[in-house]
Amino acid sequence: MPNQTYQSHPERVTSLSSKKGKATIAALTAYDYPTAKILDETGIDLILVGDSLGMVVLGHNDTTEVTIEMMIHHTSACRPAVKNAALVADLPYKSYDTPEKAIITSNSLVKAGADGVKLEGGTEIIPQINAIIDNGIPVIGHVGLLPQSIKIEGSYKKKGKSPEEYSRILADAISLEKAGAVAIFLENIVSELASEITNELKIPTIGIGSGIDCNGQIRVIHDITGFFPWFTPSFADPLCNIANEISLAVEKYIKSTYSCVI
Ligand code: KIV
Repeated sequence: MPNQTYQSHPERVTSLSSKKGKATIAALTAYDYPTAKILDETGIDLILVGDSLGMVVLGHNDTTEVTIEMMIHHTSACRPAVKNAALVADLPYKSYDTPEKAIITSNSLVKAGADGVKLEGGTEIIPQINAIIDNGIPVIGHVGLLPQSIKIEGSYKKKGKSPEEYSRILADAISLEKAGAVAIFLENIVSELASEITNELKIPTIGIGSGIDCNGQIRVIHDITGFFPWFTPSFADPLCNIANEISLAVEKYIKSTYSCVI
């Protein structure tokens, strides 16, 4: 665990809200130094140290086993690489049950170098969001499909199909904006709902699996690069095949060892 306190740049997160209506927001996940450095140097706006870490890096079945210590470890690995983008870290499962706990965990992620934090949920987590923001840490909201609720939900289904769910997610997004969230992630919701939230809110929406009517998009880096070939979400659209490139390099390397002495 790093005992160093890293420099954090909260203004890089708060300035994202002024992009609405002027520029789109391109966001990707990263969990380590080289990936974060490549994304930052390529000009990404927002790097998320997502708790998807559990699945695509640590081989867990879902995100619920990710701990605050793991998030601190990976956030501090990304921090030295990120010179321009906003670096946001996820508050993991059960780390923000109460406002007091949310302050402690958010502070630990900022100490590890996060410029802001993201947490999943709507109206029910407004006290936690108020507490984090009052403590000077910018917050990004996350509504729609909430991967940390997988144990209750049972599957990763598209959200907002029923009128009740549609209205609840819309109300959640409005409450998050009122509470002071800088931006909101819209995960796997019907595109009409994403479009309505985007039109309704003054802060930017950042979509994943929710259509193009959002102010920006976020993807898991492994999904767009083909680095997790065992599962590719339908909306992922891999743009290259890193797994294949690594296999080819490893094959070449194995062959090169044939010339060694036996
Ligand atoms: O953890 C994660 O990767 C996320 C996605 C929405 C990008 O939260």
